[in-house]
Parts: sequence; C-alpha cells; structure tokens
Amino acid sequence: MTFPLDSILRFRTLAVCSIVACSAAFFVSCKTSGGPAGSEIIVGEYASLTGGTATFGQSVHNGDVLAVDEINASGGVLGKKINLVTEDDQSKTEEAVASVQKLVNSDKAIALLGEVASSRSMAGAPIAQQAHVPMITPASTNEDVTKKGDYIFRICFIDPFQGKTMAHFALGSLGKKRAAVLTDVKQDYSVGLDEAFKHTFSTAGGTIVSEQSYSTGDKDFHAPLTSIRAANPDVIFVPGYYTEVSLIVRQARELGIECPILGGDGWDSPELTKGEEQQFNNTFFSNHYATEDPDSTVQNFVKKYQDKYHAVPDAMAALGYDAARILADAIKRAGSTDSSALRKAIAETKDFPGVTGHITIDENRNASKPLTIIKIVDGKFHFAQRIGPNGEALTPLK
Ligand code: PHE
Repeated sequence: MTFPLDSILRFRTLAVCSIVACSAAFFVSCKTSGGPAGSEIIVGEYASLTGGTATFGQSVHNGDVLAVDEINASGGVLGKKINLVTEDDQSKTEEAVASVQKLVNSDKAIALLGEVASSRSMAGAPIAQQAHVPMITPASTNEDVTKKGDYIFRICFIDPFQGKTMAHFALGSLGKKRAAVLTDVKQDYSVGLDEAFKHTFSTAGGTIVSEQSYSTGDKDFHAPLTSIRAANPDVIFVPGYYTEVSLIVRQARELGIECPILGGDGWDSPELTKGEEQQFNNTFFSNHYATEDPDSTVQNFVKKYQDKYHAVPDAMAALGYDAARILADAIKRAGSTDSSALRKAIAETKDFPGVTGHITIDENRNASKPLTIIKIVDGKFHFAQRIGPNGEALTPLK
C-alpha cells in the first residue's frame, strides 16, 4: 500500500512502505535499523518530488515504489521486506545534501536510490561514499557522477554517448551542417552534454555557428534566441531540462525559428509540450526508452504502471523501476546487506533484463546500453530510432 502522492507532498519528509500498513506505527518502523538485525531492509530514496523538476522526482518515485511493491509482494529479499524511505529534496542541490545526510545518518539506509539530476547526485554522492553506503542513480548521465567514488553507481548511459549520438543524428540522419547550442550553465548535465555534442558535431564535419547560454529558472530566452537566429543555423541543440526547454522551443518558434531543435533526456516530461503541442513539431531528443517499443518487458511495465498510476510512464519511471530491481537483485546475490558485499554485488551486475534495456555495470560503475531517439509529433513522443552503445543504428529511422 502506498500513500497518494498529493497528500504526502505536504510533508517535507515522506516515507513509503509497500505492503506495510500506513499507520502511525509506520513512521516508527522507518526508524529501525536497516542492517541485518532489523526486521526490514531500509533503502533510502532522494528525489525532487517538488520544485523546478518535480516530474522527474515524482516519476522516479513511482517507478521505485512499483518495483518495491512487487518485490515485497513476492516475499521481499533475504526474508525481509524492503522499506523505502523517501526524502523530497525540492529540486535543490543543498536539500539533496541534507536528504542524503538524513537517510544515511538517521534512517541508517543500507543503500540509496537517487538522484535524477546530475548536479544533485554529485552533491549527494560524496556523503554516501564517505559512509560506504552504495548509491545507485537511476538517471544522472553526467560523466563525473560515478567518479565520486567506488560506492557510486548508475544504471543509465552517460552524456558523452548521448551528445555524440545527437550530433551524428543531426549530421547524418537530418543532413544538417550548421548547429547552434543553447546551454544551461547552472546544470552540470547541460554543460557536459553541450560539450559532447559540440565536439562530435565539429569534428565530424559540421560547424557550430552560435553558442548561447541561460540559467535554471530563466523565463525569457529572447536575447539568446535572437543571437541564434542571426547566426542562421540549420539545427539547434538545447541540452536542458523540460522546465526551461518548454519555454525555449515556444519562444524560438514565435521568433520564426523553424529549423529542427534537438535535446537530451532532460526534455522527458509530460509538461514539456503542454498547451502548445504544434510548436514542438520538428523536435527530437535522446531518451532511455520509448513506451511504443513492442518489447514485452517494456509493454508489461507500461501496463502495470498505467494500472497503478493511471499515467503513461516516462523514462524516469522506467529507470526508477530498473534501479530498484537491480538493487534488490544485488542484495539477493550478496546474501547480506553488508556494505562492501553489497557494493561488490552491484558492481557485478551483468545483463540485467531492464525495461530500459539489458544493463551491465562496467568497470567505471556506469551502464553500457542503447539509446532511443524520440520524435515529437503534435505533442506525442514517438519512437524514431534505437542506437547501440557504439553508435550503431539498431533500427531504421522512422
Ligand atoms: N540525465 C539527466 C541528468 O543527469 C536527468 C534525467 C534523466 C532527465 C532521465 C530526464 C530523464 O541530469
């Protein structure tokens, strides 16, 4: 049983116990030790349930809860139920730090799931590393996240792959030669993705004709967009989060900029196109999966998620589901919640059949897996192409 999200969002700290009844006793139970002596296994989750990128946190949380509910319903792990203790970091870096401190020091979580945004994962990771609490980020793609230490893992691909793929897509599939970029300088994610795109685009035969920037929270993009228009690009790369990208694309179209606009996984939100779906035609972004994928693992997940939440699962939801299941699988293989045994078991994850692809953790604690390019048509996210980890087209472009 889970709390309805809208009611629990009133609490800064919230906890979700699957199966375990929601009662006052539940909050007490969440304080028990997560270690081997406890009656349950405490897993900490930190996520942006509110604030600028709230759909990221809400989706990843739904995915985590769906997985934990299933695991608990089939007997839990090591004979114990998983108790997912969740902290809302309000989409703020400093709150991500406070959340991880609480989960590690007070709740005694044996492992952490989170964060989605790379800057927040990079803020939380050193605390988890120092306490030797394994952390799995479901969705942070900046290359530096897992460099924070040997207890820090991810189950998503990294931005050098994402940026490179979109540069090849612009040059090869769309036949474009003159790119402009518009980057959020406040987000490590955006800066890393921008660098990867520019490097590949310019070394593979294209020219970067304009480089503009903005900051998280900006609302008016007319100045950078006017400079971009003056440079006459035939494609624009905007590696930002949906909150700002949603406004950027609308304002670009209003300024008469009609060329294709490309982005990365940070675009993925039901909020992106809301209200002005047509403005998003001729836009593409790289993502972790597509709900249209006929693969049975994907379709089973989409159905279960829709039955439970009455919403279509975006990529964060799928990544949250995969991350929680990979953690449970590692706890089983470790046969213990001992931190170094668990760390080793996560590192040994091999060919795990996830919704977002088969996942193998490499020697840098990153995941090597394919990427999906999404084409937006009248506000709908359509599967365009699947690209393999070495840049190879796994399907023809639709
Ligand atoms: N990859 C983004 C980051 O690292 C977060 C994200 C993941 C956004 C998946 C949307 C979908 O910051």
